[in-house]
Order: sequence, then structure tokens, then C-alpha cells
Amino acid sequence: MGGMIKVRGARPLYGTVRVPAAKNSVLPLLAASLLCGGPVRLRGAPRLSDVEGCLALLRAAGCAAGWDGGDVVVSGQPSCCRLPGGEAGRMRASVLFAAPLLARLGRAETVLPGGCRIGSRPVDWHLAALEAMGAEAAFAGQRLILTAPAGLHGAAVRLPGPSVGATETVLLAGCAARGRTVLQNAAKEPEIADLARFLNGCGAAIRGAGSGEIVIEGRAGRPLRGASYAPMPDRICASTLVCAAAAARGCVTAAGCAPGLYAPVLDILEQAGCRVLRGADSVTIGCAGPLRGVGRLVTGGYPALATDAAPLVAAALLTARGQTVIEDRVFEARFGCAGGFAALGAHVRVEAGGRELWIEGTGGGALRGAALAAGDLRGGAALAVAALAAEGESRITGCGYIDRGYPGLEAMLAAVGAQICREMPPQALD
Ligand code: UD1
Repeated sequence: MGGMIKVRGARPLYGTVRVPAAKNSVLPLLAASLLCGGPVRLRGAPRLSDVEGCLALLRAAGCAAGWDGGDVVVSGQPSCCRLPGGEAGRMRASVLFAAPLLARLGRAETVLPGGCRIGSRPVDWHLAALEAMGAEAAFAGQRLILTAPAGLHGAAVRLPGPSVGATETVLLAGCAARGRTVLQNAAKEPEIADLARFLNGCGAAIRGAGSGEIVIEGRAGRPLRGASYAPMPDRICASTLVCAAAAARGCVTAAGCAPGLYAPVLDILEQAGCRVLRGADSVTIGCAGPLRGVGRLVTGGYPALATDAAPLVAAALLTARGQTVIEDRVFEARFGCAGGFAALGAHVRVEAGGRELWIEGTGGGALRGAALAAGDLRGGAALAVAALAAEGESRITGCGYIDRGYPGLEAMLAAVGAQICREMPPQALD
């Protein structure tokens, strides 16, 4: 959608928002649909530019893929192993399409994926795992060519680190391979378990998803069945909402997302002085006075504080009394939003070569509106959250980043009373 987000802050938020389906679940599920012989329906999929990008990849692979009301439907079989470089290069998740294409067609051609500017984000662990399963990887200029002349076979794979994407690649490859795959040091994120639940519903045999060791019995090339599936809720959208309530004050309910999915964010906000009411499938957060800084926080793989939530938590604590330091142990350049926080009058600095954000709270003093530029998805959303704590108007450009992961960030925040809207450049209104 692009354009510019305008925010008038320093107004408390009240109301309830239903949390949309998770981007980080839906993108791998769309890649997984390539393994299915029958149609796949993802119910209540979020309207995101990254989802549109994945639908374009599926169509380029020869499938029919599009919207049916609020659902995404994928049908037909892949017939083309070559992913368009422009679309694949724009999205980190495009690397997840390689394993299913390789499994179905014996060959996959793509380019090294792009994604947010939060770190180097190589794909070497994906490739090493696929090579252990019988694939050969080669580069031709910018293009990555994967072949599996004798098909994929099960293997014992140990990831060097618990990568979410590499775990998903092994799950997808393992389902279609001959024999058993045992994956160690797997990522434990709930989106991995969601992917396994979908695949098992389509006839796969995966055990242990959500733990550090996953065992997959392969189907030796026989396609899976299709399914109709409701992807899990977006714990980062839920985190955005509660952080917005903490930044702007007020009382907000995030409905449809279990508190356990983002427990560290809720615990931190509670420690900072918010009231947090945890329901089975919802959270109500109340925040009246100034918050307290919470000292040192570190991000990590699930169930630790999610790296994607780090800038959002930071935005909530900019006006606190006392210090907060957030160390991101997953990505090396997570805090690109620090410049925008400073432009709003926050006292922040980035240390440890980009790994740490130091926040000296303003002690309850309000921020003031400023011109801001989103440089990545979660950092951009964090600027919007911080702007809710600022007196006067803020204007955020670079909204294309935000649209990758929020099906209308401004609509979600406006629904709880934020004065926030999107302004499109005149030519885009045609
Ligand atoms: C996924 C999420 C992203 C989230 C991240 C960490 C999706 C679509 N995106 O990204 O929102 O921020 O998990 O929770 O689900 N690494 C390598 N080599 C590899 C793969 C990873 O060195 O081949 C490193 C990365 O550079 C990074 C770490 O492993 O430092 C974790 O990255 P990973 O978990 O793979 O993130 P993504 O799957 O890309």
C-alpha cells in the first residue's frame, strides 16, 4: 500500500482488537501447499504484501493461488521450478519454496532472498541441510540452483543454531523425502508446531515439532493431501497492540491470541507497571501512570523474548522512569529504529556494534511528534507505537516495510481510538 502514516499521540487507547493470523505461520504454510496434491485453503489469512508475494511465487510455479473472501486458496500442481528473481529476492520467506519445489520437481531455481535490514541473514544452514538430504546446490550469478538427481532422502541433521527458517526447510524436505529425518537443534517457535500440525493434517508424519528434536517419516515423493486450515494468531501483532497500550496508556484487549504465546512481553510490561489480565485466549492490559524501566532484557529463540518484539517493547518503555537495556542475540542490526526514537525526543543509544539498545527513560516526560522513516518491518511498527506516546503529529514514511507484516497497522490502532491514518500520494489514488 505504501504512502505515509500520520499519528497524533498522547491520547489513551481503549477497546478490543482481534489478533489476525500470523504472517510467520502463513508464509511457510503457503510454501507447504506446494507439497499437496489437493487444494489448500488457509482460513482468515492476513492481507499482507508478503502474502501477495508468496501467491505470486505459487502462480509462477504453475499453481492457481488467490483470495476467496478472507481465505487464501491454492490448487493445482507445481510445473515450473524457476521462481521469479524480483519477487523471490524481495522476501526472506522465498527460500522456503526451494525445498518443496525440489521435492516435487527435482530442481528449484531461485535467488538469494532479501527481507528486512536487520542483519546479514544467510541461508547456509538451509542449503547444508538440503545437501545432507541429497540435494546439490550451485550458484549461477545471482541465481541459486538446487537439484536432487536421485531425489531427497532422510538424514540426521543438526542445525548450527535453532533457525526458524532452516527448521521449516527441513520439515518441508523431510515430508517428501525417502525414509526418516531426525532434526536436532530445531527452532521451538510455535509457528513451527503450526506448520507441523498443518502438514500432519495433510498426511505427513512429524513428531516433536515445538521441541529441539523433530522426527519426520518421509513419504518418498507421494504428495500430501490438501486441507482447510486456520493458521495460528500473530503473537507479534498481539505484542504490538499491548506495547501500544503501554506507550499511549489506556486499557486494551487483544483477543484471539493466548497469552502464553507472548508471555515475555506481558511479563516485561507487568514488571514496568502495567496491569495485565490473562484470559484463556485474550489479554487485557491497563496502563495509567508512568512506567518503570526494567533493567536488562535479552532476546532469544522461543520461549525467550522474541527478537521481533524487541523494538516494540523498547517503544513502550521510552517514557519510563529508569533504564532499560535490550540485547538482541538473534540479529546484529535490530535497532535501526533508534534514530527515529531519538527524533521523537527519547534518550536512546545503540551499543555493542548494533546488538544493544540502551534506553534512559524520560521519567514520564512526553515525546514530541517528528518526521520518521521506517527502515524495517518491526522497527517501523515500533516507530508508530512510540509516536502514540508523543505530543503533536508524527509522519512515518517507508510504510512498505510495515505492510509486509501488518494487515493495516493504522486500522488496528485506530480501532482502539488512536488518531492514526494513512495518507497516500495523489497519484496512488487513481
Ligand atoms: C524468522 C521470522 C522472523 C524472525 C526470525 C527469528 C519468518 C518468515 N520470519 O526469520 O520474523 O525475526 O525467524 O525469530 O518466519 N542463520 C544463519 N544461517 C541460516 C539461517 C539462519 O546464520 O541459514 C542465522 C540468522 O542470521 C540469524 C539466526 O540464524 O542470526 C536466526 O535466524 P532465523 O531463525 O533463520 O530467522 P528467519 O527464519 O529468517
